[in-house]
Amino acid sequence: MRKKVTVVGAGNVGANCALRIADKELADVVLVDIAEGIPQGKGLDILQSGPVQGYDVSITGANDYAPTANSDIVVITAGFPRKPGMSRDDLLMANYEIVKAATEGAMKYSPNAIFILVTNPLDAMCWVASKVSGLPRNKVIGMAGVLDTARFRTFIAEKLQVSVTNISALVLGGHGDTMVPITRLTNVSGIPLGELLDAETIAALVTRTQNGGAEIVKHLKTGSAYYAPSAATIEMVESILKDQKKVLPCAALLEGEYGLSGIFFGVPVKLGSEGIEKIYEVALTDDEKASIQKSAAAVQELVEVLKQKAQ
Ligand code: NAI
Ligand code: 2OP
Repeated sequence: MRKKVTVVGAGNVGANCALRIADKELADVVLVDIAEGIPQGKGLDILQSGPVQGYDVSITGANDYAPTANSDIVVITAGFPRKPGMSRDDLLMANYEIVKAATEGAMKYSPNAIFILVTNPLDAMCWVASKVSGLPRNKVIGMAGVLDTARFRTFIAEKLQVSVTNISALVLGGHGDTMVPITRLTNVSGIPLGELLDAETIAALVTRTQNGGAEIVKHLKTGSAYYAPSAATIEMVESILKDQKKVLPCAALLEGEYGLSGIFFGVPVKLGSEGIEKIYEVALTDDEKASIQKSAAAVQELVEVLKQKAQ
């Protein structure tokens, strides 16, 4: 039997997730959105690409959750994107209600699914889905680190004029401007980044990565990035569905790792058929630890607001 993935939110990120799943023939897809006709229309349009692209998967759209029953993975992209001048955190309260409703709706029909959160502010929305679903921590995962790391790799490759595939990098922490690219562990086919670029250049690439989402919002003006975010999400989906056990930076609920508890935070994890199968704790320098603490405080602040609201 084919795998089944529900994508909640048939907007820019959600529709591109559905398209990428179909292109890779990973699973049947159900797109869910509150906007009438949008998931149905986009679903049908993607389905009709099948004969040309050569994929045999079912893509359907719905405004309710019944058709999503027995999904293996639920990807939640529903929510408002960032507008120019708006921080990810401004989205907090608006997207809280949306993610709560999406989690409840999807859980009703697919209580055994693995949830991948995309909606911003990412780490806080993972916390919402975790609380609302009551799922164990291996089954609620946030997409941010794969995207942030991809941006960092892109900028390094561009600067060095080498293949992006040769860059191995790691961005930890919350999905915001406090994210922590670990430059010490970044390398180009094994060559440490610090041997190829001076400290000032590396610092500029780090800053550009931290502002990577905002840079695109500034260009688009009416929304935020979706091609790289959907690619990053589908790398996670594929690793789970195919039990690839890729080690990817994802938001995971920490229970003491990195000295943090009770918050979702970007850390390297092994993604397989059970979802998060292992969380890796990397030894960090004092400076890196200080940056991690700062990023964690930013995430914690949002969670505290949500805790008050949820009472
Ligand atoms: P979009 O506006 O294109 O799509 C959002 C969709 O959600 C709309 O179609 C809307 O009708 C739908 N929606 C709203 N309330 C809903 C509900 N209760 N149930 C079902 N659907 C509902 O936005 P886009 O660009 O797709 O972004 C979606 C979210 O993903 C935003 O919060 C954005 O900030 C976030 N994002 C996160 C990234 C990350 O790295 N974690 C990267 C890119 C985007
Ligand atoms: C991004 O980083 C908006 O979080 C989204 O592009």
